[in-house]
Amino acid sequence: MMVDRVIHKGLEGVVVATNPLTSIDGQIGKLMYRGYLIGDLAEHSTYEEVVWLLLNGELPTAPQLETFRADLAANRAIPDSVIAVLRLLPPEANAMAALRTSVSALAFADLEAEDNSEAANRRKAVRLTAKLATIVAAFDRIRSGQEPIAPRADLSHAANFLYMLRGGEPDEHMAHVFDVCLTLHADHEMNASTFAGRVTASTLSDIFSAITSAIGTLKGPLHGGANSKVMEMLLQIGDPAKAETWIKDALANHQRVMGFGHRVYKVEDPRATVLRTLSRQLGERLGNTRWYEISRTVEQEVREQKGLYPNVDFYSASTYYLMGIKTDLYTPIFALSRIAGWTANLLEQYADNRLIRPDSEYTGPKERPYVPLDQR
Ligand code: SDX
Repeated sequence: MMVDRVIHKGLEGVVVATNPLTSIDGQIGKLMYRGYLIGDLAEHSTYEEVVWLLLNGELPTAPQLETFRADLAANRAIPDSVIAVLRLLPPEANAMAALRTSVSALAFADLEAEDNSEAANRRKAVRLTAKLATIVAAFDRIRSGQEPIAPRADLSHAANFLYMLRGGEPDEHMAHVFDVCLTLHADHEMNASTFAGRVTASTLSDIFSAITSAIGTLKGPLHGGANSKVMEMLLQIGDPAKAETWIKDALANHQRVMGFGHRVYKVEDPRATVLRTLSRQLGERLGNTRWYEISRTVEQEVREQKGLYPNVDFYSASTYYLMGIKTDLYTPIFALSRIAGWTANLLEQYADNRLIRPDSEYTGPKERPYVPLDQR
């Protein structure tokens, strides 16, 4: 089959698969999971419902949701072997590297790790979704010199994560805000980490390997790693009164401002719209709108000077900060939400697979005779 020899750097605009999961219209800032608008899901749904929707195609009925919640809760515990790996890591270990390593270790405790049947992969999707939150919380507790807190089955996925992370039950508002954040990050069409996972799955490698590929890819600051960098920027600015000067200087120095711009969205990322409100509401509720105010000034300046809009990583930073979450956990939190979209995409890849193997244009030396060592 003839293919075009045009190089599409970064695969920009190249359609590599059909996708029944998530639809993005970057021109108008529209995002849907299985046909449901992200704003509607954020307002009316829960992360557990969204995971079911992505994996099964429909919103769950009440009995389905009750059973699924129990299934997730029953799978939250992580094996002692993974705890042991976490204890071996240096306290200063990179949080995403720790998550990547832990997921690899988790495979050895999963009896179905090498079973690539759809049924086994669906069960592993649920186990991974249930366990990633526990791994992230346990990592933070152990590096802080504290014992991991066992998951509770009576709390929602969002509330249980905050409970395992901090030891106390979150108040209802905080749990709801975090649940919405999980919904907003659950899937996003053919983003880099999803694509990386699908490339791995396309070789018929196992789902743990594919998720490890995805985690390693999300780690980068141009992708999921941006949210932590946004908070570092806000902390560096520190004072709303200094924000305008700071961002003007940064733009004058052609600095790439994390949390802005997107390969697909040419207008505002609809997730940023929801997160901006969450950041403001949480700040007002806690009596600390400093980070929201700084964010608004930065946003206005970047919009005016660069014509760029905030993406999902910009306002999630101040929202997580206000929830008392350590800055370097923001990307692992992105991952513990996106595991739903990753695994749903992997099921799609396995179900209608073709090895992903693109082409490249050779620009090296022309054919030439070999030169023996003593003549070089
Ligand atoms: C996520 O793909 C997904 O769906 C990802 C994601 C998901 O849910 O999975 O949405 C999550 O990764 C969001 C993006 C998080 N990353 C950042 O916030 C990092 C900062 N953003 C940029 O690096 C950039 O906008 C990208 C990486 C997100 C998109 O890059 P592109 O499409 O390759 O665009 P580009 O880098 O070629 O930029 C186009 C122009 C350039 O100007 P010129 O050099 O042509 O003059 O816009 C400028 C860029 O310099 N630009 C920025 C900028 N982003 C783009 N300038 C300053 N600050 C920025 N953030």
